Amino acid sequence: MDLNYIGGDWVPSRSGRTLASCNPTTGETLGIVPASDASDVDAACRAARAAFDRWRLTPAPRRAEILFRAAELLRERKEALARLMSQEMGKVLEEARGDVQEAIDMTLFAAGEGRRLLGYTTPAEMPDKFAMAVREPVGVVAAITPWNFPLAIPSWKLMPALVAGNTCVFKPAEDTPLCACRLVELLEEAGLPPGVLNLVHGRGEEAGAALVRHPEVDLVSFTGGTDTGREVATAAAASLKRTVLEMGGKNAVIVLEDADLDLAVDGITWSAFGTSGQRCTAASRVLIHTAVFAEVRDRLVARAEALRLGDPLDPAVQVGPLVNAAQLERVAGYVALAREEGARVLCGGERATTAPLDRGYYFRPTYLDCVTPAMRVAQEEIFGPVTCLIPVRDLDEAIQINNSVAYGLSSGIFTRDLMRAFRAMRELRTGIVYLNAGTIGAEVHLPFGGMRATGNGHREAGQAMLDAVTEWKSVYVEYSGRLQRAQIDRD
Ligand code: UN1
Repeated sequence: MDLNYIGGDWVPSRSGRTLASCNPTTGETLGIVPASDASDVDAACRAARAAFDRWRLTPAPRRAEILFRAAELLRERKEALARLMSQEMGKVLEEARGDVQEAIDMTLFAAGEGRRLLGYTTPAEMPDKFAMAVREPVGVVAAITPWNFPLAIPSWKLMPALVAGNTCVFKPAEDTPLCACRLVELLEEAGLPPGVLNLVHGRGEEAGAALVRHPEVDLVSFTGGTDTGREVATAAAASLKRTVLEMGGKNAVIVLEDADLDLAVDGITWSAFGTSGQRCTAASRVLIHTAVFAEVRDRLVARAEALRLGDPLDPAVQVGPLVNAAQLERVAGYVALAREEGARVLCGGERATTAPLDRGYYFRPTYLDCVTPAMRVAQEEIFGPVTCLIPVRDLDEAIQINNSVAYGLSSGIFTRDLMRAFRAMRELRTGIVYLNAGTIGAEVHLPFGGMRATGNGHREAGQAMLDAVTEWKSVYVEYSGRLQRAQIDRD
């Protein structure tokens, strides 16, 4: 059995209750972890608070050295971690390796910040006075993470928080606790002192809810569904905790009539069905110029039908199972809704039940036609392998449809026309825009996050990640030896 990690000790839940981690390909149990309640969360938050002063006073380059070691350990264990991830949540091995690589990249990037963490100096408006702005850690950071990127997303949250001098309580998704254990063990091995990072497993309604309300938590960094994110924000607001929220997406790829269609079909197939569509950046809508609509539709459907479903550990397999039964039900529910709304299922549209796929939560890659932009399937996040194809007359209409959903995470446009490309770059209301690429593939040194209901204005990754995990402090130093009143004592 795996355990919680609190104050440097691996411990069971106080109640003794447990949760199982199951393989979505086979249904087999992979491991058992504690089902934590408010008392476990309380112990973890207190441990994080107790470790805070020492950690924040450890020079940042020294904190960073621990992260550099962690990156080395991630690199050494990349293959084993990737295999565990494929088994625990079903993404194909090649993508799981990418997830581990993203964790390595972020760990190195955050470690590099240990010798930067830049503030700034600026002239004061008075003579013989010095002014500077410096960053300080926020305090105790609660990281609540989803199952779709079991190592990458925790790394986006934990590594910047740690290098900046915060201590953390990490509550991973209940579907991927084993990946979380391996990450925390590795950080312990890299030399993180006791209490600096604490791990509590458990359900969102119980452990997550207690964490968000805990008085010792200063910042909640959450990635997950929009409904949960709203609850996190509401609960955190009561005690004025800072929040970083990364929530849903309803991302669109635009294909104009002058596009390289081979490239567009490749990019859309990858963006729609990579990770079985279970990415907040997945392409959930394709807005295709009417002049090429039929051709693009037919080519996309042919590609989707040719995708190989199967065991994610098999290198020939391109699409793994969905993560759990609830997710399968949700996706099937959206396809049923699409039919009711008058959409047409072009391919897929059902669970894959040919043996041995019947043992897992497989859903066939699905394209929907006859979709109007106002339909719920064209507005709401599905988080599965279901993508709507929508014809558009021109770029203006495509932009208008792209921007007419609640979310604003990522978008892509395929065109060879420089002028329309630049207009799209400016007008697409999403935090990430891809030119001649699909909607997935963000790199760790650029800001990641979305506009409108996707987030709350913060960005992870990139330089922006530091703003989320630090407080600015402005420092004025008088060396004139007299009272100088700002804005008043002039000339
Ligand atoms: C997510 O979609 O949940 O850009 C995260 C990407 C990945 C991260 C996605 N680097 O698709």
